[in-house]
Parts: sequence; structure tokens; C-alpha cells
Amino acid sequence: MTEKSKAIYPGSFDPVTRGHLDVIERARGLFGTLHIAVLSNPEKKALFTPEERIELLRSETAGLAGAGVLEFSSFEGLTARLAVEVEAGWIVRGLRSAADAAYELPMAHSNRRCGETEIETVFLPAGAETSFISSSLVREIAAGGGLLEAFVTPGVEAALRGRFSS
Ligand code: PNS
Repeated sequence: MTEKSKAIYPGSFDPVTRGHLDVIERARGLFGTLHIAVLSNPEKKALFTPEERIELLRSETAGLAGAGVLEFSSFEGLTARLAVEVEAGWIVRGLRSAADAAYELPMAHSNRRCGETEIETVFLPAGAETSFISSSLVREIAAGGGLLEAFVTPGVEAALRGRFSS
């Protein structure tokens, strides 16, 4: 990885969690540019639209450490195709558990083989403070009115409260 190298960090980010932010902060220290790509899947019902998710990603990453440039987009279709489109050489994903590895490894091997260019996946192990966090748990806790501080930043918490008020 050179200073000028570029990676994409794909995900649903519905919404961005403290775990995602940890991965972003660490990955932007490794790559010159980190392209954060929000999957837009019309068949899957999401809490936030892709535009809202990008807005939250932009605001919550604004104060993060690290020199790497951050780019944001939403995409449909294949991650490997997007990587070629934005000229990224790597895919970044966080790994929280053995269950994650079971899901991520076939995806990483597929991403090496399903695009026009071979693209490698770089895994970053989740820190102990974030390894229990997932967006689906966050949505559940928000819907039930639970405490969100350990899971998301205040900006995301406000957006969640807005979504579940009334
Ligand atoms: O945050 P998530 O939901 O765990 O992210 C999953 C994501 C978006 C990385 C994954 O579903 C994905 O890459 N979807 C796009 C379709 C694709 O490229 N699948 C891999 C087969 S080669």
C-alpha cells in the first residue's frame, strides 16, 4: 500500500456506528484515499435512505483523525465493479467475530474473482470497545428507546431519535 493507494469501504451503514467509525479512522491511516460506499438495495427496507446515510457518514467522520482523503457515494450492484469504477485497489472490511469471518471470507474470495480486475480485501479487527456493535442492534435498541451512547455518536443518536419519535 503506497501513500497514493485507494481503498473502498462498502457497507449498508444503516446507520453508521462507532464500529464503522473506528474502521474508517484506522483505514484512512493506511490508504491515501478511502472511498466509503453505501449499498443502495431497493429490495431491502432500510431505516435511512442512502442519501441520509451518506449525510450521517460525512458529518460523523468530519472530526476523525488521519490524513487519508475520504470520499462518499452510494452504489447498486457489485462492490468489485464499483472498486474498478472508482479505481480502488483494495476493499476494506471490519471483522468482529468468527461469525463475521464465515460471512466475509467467501465474499472476499468472490470479490477477487467476480470483477474485471482482481481486488484484494483487507480486514481490520474490531477493537474490544466496538466488537459487539452492529447497525441492526442499533436499530433495535433505538426502536425500543434504549441507551445508544456506547453504539453511536450523538449526531447519529439524534437522527435515530427523530426517526422513532411520535
Ligand atoms: O454492512 P453490510 O451490510 O455488512 O455490507 C455488506 C456489503 C454491502 C459489503 C455486501 O453485501 C456487498 O458487497 N454487496 C454488494 C453485492 C456484492 O458485491 N456481493 C459480493 C459478491 S461478489
